[in-house]
Amino acid sequence: MKDRIIIFDTTLRDGEQSPGASLNNKEKLEIAKQLETLRVDIIEAGFPISSEGDFDAVKTISKKVKKVSVCALARAVKKDIDAAYNAVKYAKKPRIHVFLATSKIHMKYKLKKAEGEILKAAAWGVKYAKRKIKDIEFSPEDASRTDKKFLYQVLEAVIDAGATTVNIPDTVGYATPYEFGSLIKDIKENVPNIDKAVISVHCHNDLGLGVSNSLAAVSGGARQVECTINGLGERAGNASLEEIVMSIATRKDIFKFKTNVKKNQIYKTSRLVSKLTGMLVQPNKAIVGANAFAHEAGIHQDGLLKERRTYEIMRPEDVGFKETKLVLGKHSGRHALRARLKKLGYTLSDKEIERAFTRFKKLADKKKEVFDEDLATIVEDEIGTASEIYKLISFYILSGNKVTPSATVTLKHEGKTLVANSTGDGPVDACYKAVEKITGEKPRLLSYNLNAVTAGKDALGEVAVRMKIGKEEMNGRGASTDVVEASLKAYLDALNRLKSLN
Ligand code: KIV
Ligand code: ZN
Repeated sequence: MKDRIIIFDTTLRDGEQSPGASLNNKEKLEIAKQLETLRVDIIEAGFPISSEGDFDAVKTISKKVKKVSVCALARAVKKDIDAAYNAVKYAKKPRIHVFLATSKIHMKYKLKKAEGEILKAAAWGVKYAKRKIKDIEFSPEDASRTDKKFLYQVLEAVIDAGATTVNIPDTVGYATPYEFGSLIKDIKENVPNIDKAVISVHCHNDLGLGVSNSLAAVSGGARQVECTINGLGERAGNASLEEIVMSIATRKDIFKFKTNVKKNQIYKTSRLVSKLTGMLVQPNKAIVGANAFAHEAGIHQDGLLKERRTYEIMRPEDVGFKETKLVLGKHSGRHALRARLKKLGYTLSDKEIERAFTRFKKLADKKKEVFDEDLATIVEDEIGTASEIYKLISFYILSGNKVTPSATVTLKHEGKTLVANSTGDGPVDACYKAVEKITGEKPRLLSYNLNAVTAGKDALGEVAVRMKIGKEEMNGRGASTDVVEASLKAYLDALNRLKSLN
């Protein structure tokens, strides 16, 4: 049987450190449940000492996720390890991940500690955590810039103290593939007790090498890879889970390993993470971008029709990304919709199917062709919406290059119909100002992104916004063939989510 690469997902910890990607606890649990369905091996659910919210999220995920390990991060100090333990102890398979920087630059300027003190603190942290939980991971932060001899010493000491996984982070994304693969080989050869621990890697993407470095490390002997959905993470992000998993699966001739990941859940997971974090996926992103399986050139299309493998190294359906083709039309019924959605990985209740069906019919009336991406978008838009504290009833806009744009918006709130009008810098701004008049809330709009779900003039527009009221930030999404309507829906989605926090 093939050896297995352990997939450690850190979307909810390092991924959530992406600027602008913060999630509330309900959203974190939703992602954790999907990661469980995706069958990653370990979910790093958060850094419990960092905030009360993070502590609660790790605790909730530990209670609700039972099929995969749940991990909590801690510095090598008592209060962090206690918090990590108290949050993760409810998990069926709990893990504590202790980290401490070991590079000269971090020790001198950040920690102001000498090598001897770091060595002691690292071993102490692991020993203390081990008294609470069996499964302990240790990371020498900035390992790729750490003096090798010192790195070997630290690894030996933490394995002696009880670490069962030693993770080698390329914290600042500085390493190159050959160098990083060699580092893993050197660790295998120079740390005397290395056979008592799994070697893991955690690569950042500052030079765009996160995935390449992780794969080079696998070839060098690493057996756990830390990664995130859509490559989210601090600064330029982490190695992307979907790229790692599909590289291993596609190049079986090179990587003679398997993973436990259910590949047909990849696309759905990517969309969910994108929706909840508000971080749109670039169209040309490998594996999950809208263009990842789109063929434009005539020569390519001709080749594909003759033999798919001429230009396709993976089948889109393998990652749950159905070929972009006409799937349903105006005359399709509920059964066809249910069956198609099931194929796309959505199992909905009768009530949800009914709502999705109504949306689908409206879309099919407006749009000549309905693609799988459209179906996924309307389902997520319809089913994923927060309780509709403010519900959009209608809007009218007057806009043009010679008039001041104005909008009249009608919302339903607590059984009452409320109407307001406003002018603005454009039709979207006018609508948002009208909503402000109705709700009395003046959120700060932190970001606004508009994306076409498929090609064509009649494509669904998907809007993602991030807004702030007081200290709370929230993402919202909306989709429609009308971009002003999509914008209003996204705004109300974020507002309703913020309101339902209280
Ligand atoms: O990048 C890093 O070094 C980390 C550690 C906490 C593993 O995220
Ligand atoms: Zn990191």
